[in-house]
Amino acid sequence: MEKFYALFLIFISLWAKTIKMDYTAAVVEFYPDQVEDLKPEEKLKKNVDGYLNILDEILKKQPKPDIVIFPEAVLTAKSAIVKRSDALPYTVEISNSSESLCTAVNTTFLTRLACAAQQSKIYLVINLIERERCKSTSKCAKDGWDIFNANIVLDRNGSVISKYPKYYLFDEPFMNRTATPEVVIFDTDFGEKFASFTCFDILFKKPALDLVYKHQVTNIIFTTMWYSKLPFLAGLQMQRQWSYAVNATLLAAGANDPERANGGSGIHLGRKGSLVSGILDNTRSQAFVATVPQLLAQVRETTEEIDKKAKQMDGFFLYDEDLTQYTSKIIQFGKQGIKNKICHKNLCCDFKMSLQWNNTTTKKYYVYHMVAYTGVLYIYDYILGIDVCGVIACLTKNLNSCSKRFPNYDDVSWPVTFKRIQIKAQFEIDDQKFQYPNSLLSNIKPLPAEDFDWTSRTLNTTIEKTFTLKHPQNRLMTFAIYGRDFNKDKH
Ligand SMILES: *[C@@H]1O[C@H](CO)[C@@H](O)[C@H](O)[C@H]1NC(C)=O
Ligand SMILES: *[C@@H]1O[C@H](CO)[C@@H](O)[C@H](O)[C@H]1NC(C)=O
Ligand SMILES: *[C@@H]1O[C@H](CO)[C@@H](O)[C@H](O)[C@H]1NC(C)=O
Ligand SMILES: *[C@@H]1O[C@H](CO)[C@@H](O)[C@H](O)[C@H]1NC(C)=O
Ligand SMILES: *[C@@H]1O[C@H](CO)[C@@H](O)[C@H](O)[C@H]1NC(C)=O
Ligand SMILES: *[C@@H]1O[C@H](CO)[C@@H](O)[C@H](O)[C@H]1NC(C)=O
Ligand SMILES: *[C@@H]1O[C@H](CO)[C@@H](O)[C@H](O)[C@H]1NC(C)=O
Ligand SMILES: *[C@@H]1O[C@H](CO)[C@@H](O)[C@H](O)[C@H]1NC(C)=O
Repeated sequence: MEKFYALFLIFISLWAKTIKMDYTAAVVEFYPDQVEDLKPEEKLKKNVDGYLNILDEILKKQPKPDIVIFPEAVLTAKSAIVKRSDALPYTVEISNSSESLCTAVNTTFLTRLACAAQQSKIYLVINLIERERCKSTSKCAKDGWDIFNANIVLDRNGSVISKYPKYYLFDEPFMNRTATPEVVIFDTDFGEKFASFTCFDILFKKPALDLVYKHQVTNIIFTTMWYSKLPFLAGLQMQRQWSYAVNATLLAAGANDPERANGGSGIHLGRKGSLVSGILDNTRSQAFVATVPQLLAQVRETTEEIDKKAKQMDGFFLYDEDLTQYTSKIIQFGKQGIKNKICHKNLCCDFKMSLQWNNTTTKKYYVYHMVAYTGVLYIYDYILGIDVCGVIACLTKNLNSCSKRFPNYDDVSWPVTFKRIQIKAQFEIDDQKFQYPNSLLSNIKPLPAEDFDWTSRTLNTTIEKTFTLKHPQNRLMTFAIYGRDFNKDKH
């Protein structure tokens, strides 16, 4: 009888390991301490205090999260790290032992976080600078270390169970990276597999797309300090297009700093749209908590709500992009039906639109351009291949006014309502090319998933993508097929 009981328990525990359960996650948008002349250990202490305060806030409410994710680089931010010697005091060595980091010996700033994980029995994802003894025979830095921008996962007892080093570093020349992008997957006690990547990694194939398509991971953790840029690369715009295109859950925690274009966090459920998301217009921290995969009833924001948030976002800095190489055609005022093919080199974009105009407008308004572009985007010290077909808002008929906003939202009117937009384009079938449905409204958030369709059709040698706006919209900044062509990347 006892034997039978033991077998039964084994069976139950095996079964429990393979069954997937709903889980609750919190993604934290975090505004780091701003006092620049604090010593590194003081800064780390203050920001860990900030993390623990947020954790306390989260735990006061129901449901209690299973996993809490903090953003990239905020334990050290505003420390003016420009050289390696400034980074070293923030680094931490992480042994590969499975012991909890909640111990009384060899304590670091991680100890308090590990003890918090243990006490509240929550998985924590922390982005930090990890250091390891350099083992290279030829390339070691003088200080003898390799240092990585790493996502560390602590389990419910405070032990490190996963370590992902960011591959596509962005303006962090003092950092090391692995020879090739690493695929790092971890299991949880609620039956879900997770993997993570960081910030700029989201624009590349490895490991980001491979995690979903080669390794079948459908829960992706994204830590970021994103530098939002118009018209295609604002924080939430990027997150939601990625999650939607790959149809995986993206748990995104973003650093907050409106003056530096940093913001945007959320839990995005692929084709189902976003469970929670936000971009903070002022300097503060906030946790977005929700149970996955339950989908809340999606409420489309009203025009009044969009306007209110958009006005608050006036002071949020956004980078712009030089679009003067793009092929463009202006949407003439009053034009109610549009059918146009616009090509740039070998990329042709088919636009079909139906529009409605309010002719009594007296205020400023955006001029919309239909654009096509196939080529490269220069960003930091990267060259990225891109293919773009889109409708974008510009200040004037001049292409160099695109990707800029009017400074005061109250001065802007919105005479055109896009009743329907359909953009269609063909791309070579090539696993080094990938396209996303890209959109942005005046509140610097993307369209809700139920407002558009995104379909693909395989033709003889090409794949045809169709992006359709189904619900009338008059606060549009961007509506585009945004393609990446990894063949053209250089770094
Ligand atoms: C820890 O790292 C050492 C040296 O890299 C290795 O020999 C050992 O197998 C690792 N142990 C575990 C548990 O991964
Ligand atoms: C949890 O960590 C503590 C040390 O903080 C250790 O004593 C204990 O054995 C660990 N428990 C489990 C279940 O691993
Ligand atoms: C603490 O660190 C020292 C020096 O790195 C090491 O020798 C020792 O084994 C560590 N102790 C524990 C319990 O990890
Ligand atoms: C680590 O980065 C430093 C600074 O860029 C560099 O000098 C060093 O060669 C790198 N180490 C390795 C093993 O590549
Ligand atoms: C997206 O993923 C969900 C499961 O997570 C699946 O039910 C649905 O069919 C997928 N949709 C598409 C278009 O692949
Ligand atoms: C606005 O003007 C266009 C022509 O410029 C006209 O076709 C349209 O009916 C007008 N719309 C309204 C609502 O008056
Ligand atoms: C047209 O625009 C004016 C000025 O922006 C506004 O007051 C009016 O309500 C708008 N009319 C409609 C039908 O949207
Ligand atoms: C695609 O292939 C079919 C069958 O081989 C052929 O009839 C058709 O003309 C091809 N279409 C194009 C656009 O090449």
